[in-house]
Amino acid sequence: MVWFSKENIIPEGTARVKIRGGAPVMVVRHGGNLYAYLAVCDHKYYVLCERAVKDGKIICPGHGEEFILPSGEPTKGKAKSPLIRLKLEVKDGDIYVEVPSRNLIEKLIKDSLSD
Ligand code: FES
Repeated sequence: MVWFSKENIIPEGTARVKIRGGAPVMVVRHGGNLYAYLAVCDHKYYVLCERAVKDGKIICPGHGEEFILPSGEPTKGKAKSPLIRLKLEVKDGDIYVEVPSRNLIEKLIKDSLSD
């Protein structure tokens, strides 16, 4: 687990994106809970941005895919897969996330390019 940020900087309905372990990670507060995702859309690999959370969805800045919170399921048919959920822990007001392995990130890219 790596440190992500202080918990109190993410109000309800907002997100933060940070590079952790070489990967973009998004933490969102939705319905009072915090969720962490690999912040990459598998359509064309745009990185999701902090301002993309709206009405219970994360909207990809690339071509408009909408991922439902908290499942991360895509709804528009552009992305093939749900967002990859990451483990998250809060300790003493600090958020920690489990960063995806480099192998997993490379596999996602390879799978996407094979289409
Ligand atoms: S890259 Fe996300 S919709 Fe195209």
